[in-house]
Amino acid sequence: MSTFKSLNPTNLSDVVVETKLATADDIAAAARRAKAAQKAWAKMPAPARGRVIANAGRLFENNKEALSKLVTREMGKVYREALGDVQEVIDTCDFFLGEGRRLYGQTVPSEMPNKNLFTFRMPVGTALIITAGNFPAAVPSWYIIPALLTGNSVVWKPSEFTPAVAEAMTAIFHAAGVPKDVLITVVAEGKETFEGMVKGLDEGTINKVGFTGSTEVGRLIGAKVGEYIQSACLELGGKNPMIIMPDADLDLALDGALFAGFGTAGQRCTSLGTLWIHDSVYDKFLKMYADKVASSKVGDPMQDVLFGPMIAEKYLATHEENLKMIQPHHTVHGSTGIGRITKDNPREGFVGDPEAGVFVHPTIVAGIKKEDALYNTETFGPLVTVGRFSTIEEAIELGNDHGFGLSAAIYTSDPKSVWTFREGISAGMLSINNSTSGAEAHLPFGGNGKSGNGSRQSGIWVLDVFTRWQSLNWDWSGKLQKAQMDNEEVPHNPDFKI
Ligand code: UN1
Repeated sequence: MSTFKSLNPTNLSDVVVETKLATADDIAAAARRAKAAQKAWAKMPAPARGRVIANAGRLFENNKEALSKLVTREMGKVYREALGDVQEVIDTCDFFLGEGRRLYGQTVPSEMPNKNLFTFRMPVGTALIITAGNFPAAVPSWYIIPALLTGNSVVWKPSEFTPAVAEAMTAIFHAAGVPKDVLITVVAEGKETFEGMVKGLDEGTINKVGFTGSTEVGRLIGAKVGEYIQSACLELGGKNPMIIMPDADLDLALDGALFAGFGTAGQRCTSLGTLWIHDSVYDKFLKMYADKVASSKVGDPMQDVLFGPMIAEKYLATHEENLKMIQPHHTVHGSTGIGRITKDNPREGFVGDPEAGVFVHPTIVAGIKKEDALYNTETFGPLVTVGRFSTIEEAIELGNDHGFGLSAAIYTSDPKSVWTFREGISAGMLSINNSTSGAEAHLPFGGNGKSGNGSRQSGIWVLDVFTRWQSLNWDWSGKLQKAQMDNEEVPHNPDFKI
């Protein structure tokens, strides 16, 4: 039996928890248990399930600080952002507790008399939810809460880097009244998870897969699930553009670009990818950005810093690979070095002991061109690329052509630019004069192209992920009325003119 040690990325000598890793068979067994428990859960009236979600919301609220501290300890985001991560769970509970009393179907008029038509939402069954480490509380809750509310059972496979947060969250849901087998959490590595998923699909005990993570893995999951005539809910990577127009409020844009690029150490799927700056303000804004990033504090996430450590050394290794894509025609800004912060590669003003954890320099790579590897690589770390453009059409093309389409932002004071951007950009989530990251918990969340297959989380839109429409017709006329054949013709005069 193998185990995984979850380490505090601020201080790697602090073992947060040592977890037993589940095998593919364990995952398949969990799916069988969850499947067996689902029917009784679905039988419970939706308003009663809504009460359970209400209980969970209250418990998350009562445990907000403790859970947020655990998020910072296990994953490394700054404490203020960790509080936001947990707040998003509470917001999601607030939204869905009411959905328990709605979960509307429709009454639809029939084309024939004495016949009624209806629609009902049916739960899908058992969902396997696979989530990433960067939002260890919020993102899983976007799946788990609506899935439970709509009468599904869930097997949750959190990131192996955040098992302690997952254990705490699961305990809260169980304390709120979710039966043990209706939400089962299994910590496993990718390969075993995939094999367990295939077993569950084969056995009919996994009826929906939700996955938040890389485009590469999402493609494999989507293809496999497709063989079973299912569609996965895929929330994948991004290379999110932010366009700075000549009429932008540059101070406002600076705040947005700083948070979008370096909040959560750039490890949000909504983090800023490339900052596209108009020629007329390019030198000025690049300097403002470089100076601001260079003077920002990095370090201990419990202190007042821009960002803390990366999630784990595995993420640092990917970041270091990405740094190798910097080419001679690029210029590098934002810090006193690149890569890991050490005694020999220090960061000015660092807060804490850089060598105790997984800390890296913020890096701005300017002079990015469409042909560059960095143009279409999701970097998922504190690395922002910067390029220039001369027309909004060109900026939109640059923002689309890498094929990702998650989030995109524009800073401008011209409504014409706003609407040109809205119509032309292919991303699923747009921001006007705001960061690419920081979406609210009740708007549709999701992307297009390499960022997702069109499924949407959050708000009313996620209901279509976890339910299927069932239609019902009830003919009480006492005779067989054939649709499209026995309809009443209304006499009319097609040649009438006034
Ligand atoms: C993610 O990185 O997977 O919009 C989710 C945001 C957050 C969620 C990010 N509310 O940045």
